[in-house]
Amino acid sequence: MRALQFTAYGDPDVLEWAEAPDPHAGAEQIRVVVRAASVNPIDWKVLSGALSGGERLAGPGYLGYDAAGVVDEVGDQVVGVSVGDDVFGCGMPTQAEYAVLDSWAVKPSSIDWAVAAAAGVAGETAERGLRLLGVTAGDTLFIDGGAGGVGAVTVQMALARGAKVVASASQANQDYLREIGATPVLYGEGIAARARAAAGGPFQAVFDVAGKTPIEDLISLAPEPSQVVSIANFAAGQTGARVTGGGEDSRTVEALALVAELLVQNKLVIKVQTFPFHRAAEAYRISQDGHMRGKLVLVP
Ligand SMILES: NC(=O)c1ccc[n+]([C@@H]2O[C@H](COP(=O)([O-])OP(=O)(O)OC[C@H]3O[C@@H](n4cnc5c(N)ncnc54)[C@H](OP(=O)(O)O)[C@@H]3O)[C@@H](O)[C@H]2O)c1
Repeated sequence: MRALQFTAYGDPDVLEWAEAPDPHAGAEQIRVVVRAASVNPIDWKVLSGALSGGERLAGPGYLGYDAAGVVDEVGDQVVGVSVGDDVFGCGMPTQAEYAVLDSWAVKPSSIDWAVAAAAGVAGETAERGLRLLGVTAGDTLFIDGGAGGVGAVTVQMALARGAKVVASASQANQDYLREIGATPVLYGEGIAARARAAAGGPFQAVFDVAGKTPIEDLISLAPEPSQVVSIANFAAGQTGARVTGGGEDSRTVEALALVAELLVQNKLVIKVQTFPFHRAAEAYRISQDGHMRGKLVLVP
């Protein structure tokens, strides 16, 4: 098969769409013929070597953490899914012609492949953040970084729970936040005062998606420090805010099932921009720039 790969850490120019060994489904896994795989910031962080812990690359590096596709192998101990089914979900690496998934949900037939691929990491992360914060109907939530992949999905999943959402974005994305149902504020200096004014009352929870605002500003909005959860500022834990990187906090299968339901109900709409796999470097550069509206998705 062909897969997106790199043989030295670097910027997106080092990416190649080239031959790679076929992966196979192990126990509790499935393999899909990939119809779409999204780009997440972790992809260019891995590519850059920033997550390598100083280790040299031992062989080719592969990328991608979510995908949508048609099942073509079913591993041992897997029930409820068959060869030929359309699914989406999470696994690694997925930016390839074939990918092995660890967690998945049936792709609703009305949902585009690219949208389903975009829903994996973003949907799981959004569900995790809202669950850790205990966001329920009637709560007011502040999302710092509401227009990107995780942020825009979180805005809509919170609204679907009956919460009110104030979210931050650049000037260019204020209308987009309004379109998906959040009250928009600009990020940067003075963000806490703007968020407070927009909420017109106290916040019950703060979700730090971007990791760019001083954590003290975000804590000043919450009823207590632990009601700030960050997915991108790993130093925030020292202040009493909570930090999550997935792992034991994740309930990926349940999150994907919920996301599928919300997509069908049109309560969740994911804006996607697609690129063919051989133009992945362009998508990576846009993601790296850090001013996303929705998601970038690679397609064969
Ligand atoms: N810990 C985990 O489990 C986990 C899971 C998924 C993602 N992440 C991390 O979470 C971060 C966000 O992921 P993503 O997929 O949502 O990224 P993304 O799609 O690139 O979106 C990033 C968003 O950040 C906003 N932003 C930029 N500068 C900002 C600032 N100074 N203040 C507030 N917001 C700002 C941007 O808004 P504008 O476009 O309007 O500028 C953009 O919409 C990344 O660092 C990613 O690696 C962590």
